[in-house]
Amino acid sequence: MQPITDLQRPVIKTQLPGPKALEIINADAQYVTPSYPRPDYKLVAEKGYGVWIEDPDGNVFLDCNAGVAVCSTGHCHPEIVKSISDQAAELIHLCGTDYYYRHMPALGKKLDEIVPIDGPTKSHFANSGAEAIETALKLAMYHTRRQKFISFFGSFHGRTLGALSLTSSKKAQRLGFMRQALDVVHVPYPNCYQCPFNLGKCSDGSCCMGSVSWIEDRIFNTTTPPEEVAGIVVEVVQGEGGYVPAPTEFIREIRRICDQHGIMMIIDEVQSGMGRTGKMFALDHHQGVKADIVCMAKGIGSGMPIGVCTAKADIMDWHKGAHASTFGGNPVAIAAALKTIELLEGGMVDNARDVGAHLEAGLRRLQDKYECIGDVRGLGMMLGVEFVSDKVSKKPDAALRDRIEMACFERGLIILGCGTSTIRWSPPLILSHENADVALEIFDAAIAASI
Ligand SMILES: Cc1ncc(COP(=O)(O)O)c(C=O)c1O
Repeated sequence: MQPITDLQRPVIKTQLPGPKALEIINADAQYVTPSYPRPDYKLVAEKGYGVWIEDPDGNVFLDCNAGVAVCSTGHCHPEIVKSISDQAAELIHLCGTDYYYRHMPALGKKLDEIVPIDGPTKSHFANSGAEAIETALKLAMYHTRRQKFISFFGSFHGRTLGALSLTSSKKAQRLGFMRQALDVVHVPYPNCYQCPFNLGKCSDGSCCMGSVSWIEDRIFNTTTPPEEVAGIVVEVVQGEGGYVPAPTEFIREIRRICDQHGIMMIIDEVQSGMGRTGKMFALDHHQGVKADIVCMAKGIGSGMPIGVCTAKADIMDWHKGAHASTFGGNPVAIAAALKTIELLEGGMVDNARDVGAHLEAGLRRLQDKYECIGDVRGLGMMLGVEFVSDKVSKKPDAALRDRIEMACFERGLIILGCGTSTIRWSPPLILSHENADVALEIFDAAIAASI
């Protein structure tokens, strides 16, 4: 791992936000949509390097969010910057939907080698996670000639109208948009800590069997006959819903149900993919289970806008003109993606596993120390810490989580909430042991100051 800077700790020199940051926040309030779901703390970024973000007033923050799990290789990794600028000097755009350039087959070939899909694959390139999901939905409908989908409570798959029909992690995402575009039925997602079936802490897999029986015994026999279901869309680690990893039994059973009924198993790796969990894909943690369709975005481009939907080649059987995007698979974005995958394979996935385990161990020590930390969970550098009023009632304490988020910001640590009362840790995958120790020390102080 190349150290990109000597900085050891955050540097906070002004009140937050500082005067220059405040000017930007005020201009934003005047000219920018109020629909962005920004947290209570207000981070204004001027520069990013490695795991550090500098604001316009010269304050430097330790970033354990990575632009919401996007800057996988760290901010402005020199090799990513070079691949972007070299490519920009050669060819920025041509519209791969009408013409050809080497980047699309190059990334398609690389993904064919690494995605958790059996047999040959093909890839469709888009600009975002939601667009990758839209592709998967259209493809599943086209291939199966069916129209219904199954999704899970707590899931987040994007905010475009098709993806929104799947999304169900927060009321605000749907409020005001009335009826949904697609016919989707939602099923409880297994959660061993906050069991949707009130089965308590169940490492025996009983809560995930509850979800499986909900599909097979309940909805298949009532609202949603399996022969009308085009796809089951699953996050292997639920992201916006609270960083909840699915048990292997559940993932295996979803595969079995899909096989039994000719349903597409659509795996959303937008947040969990590209090394974040300590393996290239979260599905790789579930040995022997392969997807039909995999959606990627976020971490694949180190910050360049790119989304990809990769499917079994014989599933991606649609006609010319069925689905395309002007900017999708732009040469500059693909150059960044190819370099990102090279860096991930060159040590960053291993680092995510190694330093992720160190971070998790530190968070578990804090769980022992504080009554308000109900659960620490996750894989690699995709870790969630759930705040509760006490360990017995497990009542989610969202207000405390928000206070801790703010207290971290004031001390120069960037983390972000998800789910009802969880703080997510999704740092750049270059985070070092030393960075993790500093982050844990600040997190500890922020919790102590907030309870
Ligand atoms: C699992 C998952 N799927 C899809 C999306 C949508 O991605 P985008 O915001 O790029 O449209 C997100 C975004 O957070 C996500 O976490």
